[in-house]
Amino acid sequence: MLGRARLADYLKAVPVRMPRWRRRSPDALQGEDPVSFAVATPFRDDAAFRRAYAAGEATGSWWGFDVEWRASIVCWAALQGRSLEGDFVEVGVHRGGYARMVVDYVGFETLTGKSFYLIDTYCGIPAAHRTGAAALFDGVYGDCYEDVLRTFTPFDTVRIVRGAVPEVLDTVRPARVAFLSIDLNSAEPSARALEHFWPLMVQGAVAVLDDYNFELFADQRAALDAAAARLGAPILALPSGQGLMVKR
Ligand SMILES: C[S@@+](CC[C@H](N)C(=O)[O-])C[C@H]1O[C@@H](n2cnc3c(N)ncnc32)[C@H](O)[C@@H]1O
Repeated sequence: MLGRARLADYLKAVPVRMPRWRRRSPDALQGEDPVSFAVATPFRDDAAFRRAYAAGEATGSWWGFDVEWRASIVCWAALQGRSLEGDFVEVGVHRGGYARMVVDYVGFETLTGKSFYLIDTYCGIPAAHRTGAAALFDGVYGDCYEDVLRTFTPFDTVRIVRGAVPEVLDTVRPARVAFLSIDLNSAEPSARALEHFWPLMVQGAVAVLDDYNFELFADQRAALDAAAARLGAPILALPSGQGLMVKR
C-alpha cells in the first residue's frame, strides 16, 4: 500500500503540470500522466486497449492513478514485439499492472514459443539502490509476490523471476528479446538491465524506459544515457515521461 504521507510526497514530486481548466474537464487524464491537454487520445477509443488497461488496473499496481498515456505506449511497443521472434521481458513489475495489460492486449497466451519474464524483488527497491530519486520510494512497495503469482497462474508462459537487479540478471538470458519494459524507479539497476537485455533484442524490437523523461528521475536519465551511449543506440525522450528505443 502507498501510505498517505508517501502519496503526498509522490504527488508533490511528480511533475504534473496540467492547467486548472483542464483538470476540471471530464475528459482530462489526471494523476501521473502529464500529456493530457491539446493532444488527441486515440487509445481511449480502442476497445482492446480499454479492456487491457482495465485488466492491468485491477491488479492494484497503479494505486488508482491514471497512467493511460504511458500504458498506451507500452501496449504499442508490445504489439511490435508480438510479430517478432523472441521473448518479452519486464524489469520492475510491482503487482503486474503493465504486464497483465500487455498479456491481454497482445493475447500473450495464444503466442507460441514466447515466454514473458517478469523480474522484481516483489518487495521494493533494495536498500543499496535507494539513492537519488529512488530514496523517495523507501517503504512504498510492500510484499506482493504471492498476489503476482496468483494473477499470472492462468498464463503458463509467464515466468515470475524474484530477485534484485542487477544480481538476478544472470539468471535471465533468453536467446532473443522482442519487447523490453524497464520500470524500476532507480538509476543504476535500470542502466544495468538495459545493458543486459539490449544485445539480446531482435531487429525492430522496442524498449520502453518508463521513468526516463520525468524531471524527478534526472539521475536515472543520466545513467540510461550513459548506457545508451555505450550501446550506440539513442533514446527518444517522450512527453509521457518515458524513453523509447528501437533496435536496428
Ligand atoms: C514503479 S514499480 C513498477 C510498476 C510496474 N511496471 C507496473 O506496471 O505497475 C517499480 C518496481 O521495481 C522494483 N524494483 C526497484 N528496484 C529494483 C531492483 N534493483 N531489483 C528488483 N526490483 C526492483 C520494485 O520492487 C517495484 O515493484
